[in-house]
Order: sequence, then C-alpha cells, then structure tokens
Amino acid sequence: MLDINNVRKDFPFLRSGRIYLDSTATSLTPEPVLRKVLEYYHEYRANVGRGIYNAAQAATFAYENARAEVAKLINAKPNEVIFVRNATEAINLIANGLKFQEGEKIVTTILEHHSNYIVWLRLKNAKKVGLSIVKSDKEGLLSPSDFISHIDRRTRLVAVTQTSNVLGVRPPVKDIVKLAHEEGSFVLVDGAQSVPHAKVDVKELDCDFLAFSGHKMCGPTGVGALYIKEDLQELVEPLCIGGGSIEDVGIEYYRLRSGPGKYEAGTPPIAEAIGMGAAAVYLMNVGMGNIEEHERKLTKRMLQGLANINGIVVYGPRDAEKRAGIVSFNLKGMNPHDVAVALDTASGVMVRSGHHCALPLHKHVLNAPNGTVRASVYLYNNNEDVDVFLETLEEISKTLA
Ligand code: ALA
Repeated sequence: MLDINNVRKDFPFLRSGRIYLDSTATSLTPEPVLRKVLEYYHEYRANVGRGIYNAAQAATFAYENARAEVAKLINAKPNEVIFVRNATEAINLIANGLKFQEGEKIVTTILEHHSNYIVWLRLKNAKKVGLSIVKSDKEGLLSPSDFISHIDRRTRLVAVTQTSNVLGVRPPVKDIVKLAHEEGSFVLVDGAQSVPHAKVDVKELDCDFLAFSGHKMCGPTGVGALYIKEDLQELVEPLCIGGGSIEDVGIEYYRLRSGPGKYEAGTPPIAEAIGMGAAAVYLMNVGMGNIEEHERKLTKRMLQGLANINGIVVYGPRDAEKRAGIVSFNLKGMNPHDVAVALDTASGVMVRSGHHCALPLHKHVLNAPNGTVRASVYLYNNNEDVDVFLETLEEISKTLA
C-alpha cells in the first residue's frame, strides 16, 4: 500500500496548500528527482558521450544509467530507449522515420490526443497513405472486435493510446497488438498517460514502439522517451542527424551509429534525462501497482461524489475499474473554463478545462464541442483533495440553481 503521508512530504509544491488535480497535463516533481538534477549541475556539469575527463565520464555514466532506469520501468533493454523531448516528438519520430509506401494504411482511434492524430492526417495528406479511424462507443470504450474491420494486409501501422487523456479509458492494447501483428502491421502505443500510472511491460504487450513523457511521470519538463524494439531500429530513420549520431564521416559520406545514439544528435537534455531516470526510480520504489490502486480508490471516491451533485454530467464509464484516474465532466449551464476558474478561486483546486487536445473525441463522441472540465489524480493526491474538490463544486452548482 502507498504511504500517502510520506509521499506527500516529497512534493514541495504541495506545501502551498493548493490542490493539484491536473497531473494529466503535467505532474509535480518530488525532491529526490530535483536533488538528482541539481547533483548534475553541482557535481559533474559536462557534456555526455564526448569528453574523456572525469566530470564528462561521470555525466555520461549518469545519463546512460538514467536510460537503464527508464528501460527498467517499461521492461525494455537500455538500447531500446531513446531520449526525446516528449511523447509528441516520439510519435513524430515514428511518423517521419518509418517509411510508408503509397497504398499503405495507418489505423488510429477517435480517442487520440492530437499528437497521435494530426501526424497521421498530415501523412495521409502528403503521402497518400490511407487513414482509418476506429470509433468508440459513447463512453469511449473500444473492444478488440472494433479493430478487426480496420486492420488488414495494407496496414503498416496501428497507432493507439493506452489510456485516454480525457476519459481515462484503456483500449485493449495487448489484443490490438496481436491482431496487428497477424496482419503484418506495427503498433505504436501512446503511453503518455499509462506509463506514469500503471505497470507497462513492453515485452508482455509486444508493442513495437512506445512513446511517453518525463514531465508526466514526476520527471523534469523537456524530456521524454521512445521505445523502439531492438530489431526494428534499422527501419526507423532519425528525425535529426548531426554530432553524436555518427559512426564515421568522410568528405562525401557519413555512417550513422546504431542504437539510441543514432537518434540523439546534438547535446541532449542531459539534466532532464538524468531527472527522468530518477523519476523512474522514484515510481518503481513506490510501486506501480500501489500507485494504480491508490488512484483507483480516489477515482471511485470522485465518481461517487460527482454522481451526487446536481447538474454534473460525467463522460466515460461510471465504473472506476474501467478507467484510470482521469475524470472529465461538465456542469450544466456553465462553461468549462468558468468552472475551472471558480474551483481555483474558491479553493485553490487546479483542474484543466477545454478540449484537452482531443477535439475529434469531444465533437464526435462526447457531443461536447465547448470542451469539458477534467480532474485527474496521481500518487500524491489524498481523500481530502477529492473532498475539497467535490464540496467546492457542489457550492458552485448551487449558485446556478
Ligand atoms: N497532454 C496533456 C493533457 O492532456 C497536456 O493535458
């Protein structure tokens, strides 16, 4: 079980007394991660993979150790983890680096964040690849059979989220991977909202690519990771090439390295990557299973409370077992942004409002073109956070009566 009082002590932002329910947008950062970042700046502030002197070696060691810890978090090999800026860049790297032939097809879903949607629209427009969108039911639920008619021999890639950033629903990724592989297709999983909150095992999922961000998993901003299965790396071209990514260069030729170095041209986000490694260690120490269980309890409490407030419309399944700790809703008669401002002003409760970078879902599934209010929980939230949120929301709802 997660020791919530001890966990909360690690997060300096919480000392302000404000209530942070926007971890889906970005998470708070604990002291051990901040200390690790500072350790780099204080003790071995040098470039990585270049210098031979002591501090440069220490920096390289810390950077590669961070890669190993991030790999451990998802049960990958270190050389299968590439540091990028964020999940968005990871997805763009696959969209640009994997070669598509005319007539091939990409399959994605209506649930996706724009970062895992408009990249495929752009490819469709530019390269004449087909794009097939799998529709969910009204609660955002998808079953393996929904994918059967979309995935065929022409499918080169299935790009699917593991957890919706709006509804918290979790498409059946393992079954989708199986279906896709039977048809000879690759699968890219958007793990931005799953990797920070539950055990994700790339070997068990058997996905080909997995994208996630450091800043949503208690790490620093400006760094993320892309998992590429080892034997597929020769099929994926880097987004950028330059210093650090070469094995040899002559007057008329260059040869790229193999492994992560091929994709990490230029000086990488060193402190940030080291921080992301520390965040992976922090999460593994708390235990991904404990985090998931803790969030499920809070989500249940939140869903039960919301059901008792007049005028609240909750989107997605009402059953906390069917979703991660992300709950989007509306208060009838009030714009979502006004609800968010009222929660912040009245009680310092921070939630996101708007379309959460998922317009197709809001327009075509939720019938909420003006957006929703989204409250999301993480390992540092407690029952009191949820209760203050619910009590304040109830007061706001009364002003509309
Ligand atoms: N993708 C982040 C969110 O959903 C920014 O809020």
